[in-house]
Amino acid sequence: MRKKIVAGNWKMNLTLEEGLSLSKAIAEFAKTNPLDKLNGSPKVIMFTPFIHLVSVTESTKGINQLETGAQNCYIEEKGAFTGEISAKMIQSAGVKNVLVGHSERRAYFGETNEVLAKKVEIALANNINPMYCCGEVLDERNAGNHFNVVKEQLEKGLFWLSEEEFAKVVIAYEPVWAIGTGVTASPEQAQEMHAYIRSLVKDKYNENIAENTTILYGGSCNAKNASELFANPDVDGGLIGGASLKAEDFGAIIQAY
Ligand code: 13P
Repeated sequence: MRKKIVAGNWKMNLTLEEGLSLSKAIAEFAKTNPLDKLNGSPKVIMFTPFIHLVSVTESTKGINQLETGAQNCYIEEKGAFTGEISAKMIQSAGVKNVLVGHSERRAYFGETNEVLAKKVEIALANNINPMYCCGEVLDERNAGNHFNVVKEQLEKGLFWLSEEEFAKVVIAYEPVWAIGTGVTASPEQAQEMHAYIRSLVKDKYNENIAENTTILYGGSCNAKNASELFANPDVDGGLIGGASLKAEDFGAIIQAY
């Protein structure tokens, strides 16, 4: 059975104090609403800014199914790369997950599928689960090219992994036109792309692996629309931006299963 996940991507928001207050509220939520007892038994991940990670991870200790993640990592193991953070450092802080290939990294920092493949590789080598993001921009969708774009992102970024490695990866489909715009993909659009992604995984690996791959939806997902998105058979949860910054909203999304 594939794992259901509700993940919050804080992006470059919240001071340390604000972040800790949010993570403590989420931890409290998870204590009063044990995640493994909730409908769908979702795992919850908070992808925080690097500087918050140690303290936030500390605040999740001992809470079942509540984890943290980094929003990025560098492609090298260590060395003279001023300002960068390695997968090994992330792992050493007790962090279990890392986002790879968020569209903002692709668009603003020029990260290509080839660079992202290296990030996936180094994350796995350091026992961190990559959450690999894919998704088309509006022009690509309007041109009817969205399936090809996503296919290429997956082929170059992920589909060179062994079966064993691929089993540790979570895929997040985030149509760029839906991110931070208030325009959510319709449940039909999300289901269509998720089913397509699963079919690609089946073709590349096999049916069993495809059935066990977690595929999340991201892009203006909120407490109001989460349940109709999550109700789709191939949507296994969400990667939430803006609505993950308020404990009440994020809690409502977690309960949307
Ligand atoms: P929003 O939920 O703010 O649209 O952001 C989605 C996202 O980019 C999560 O990674």
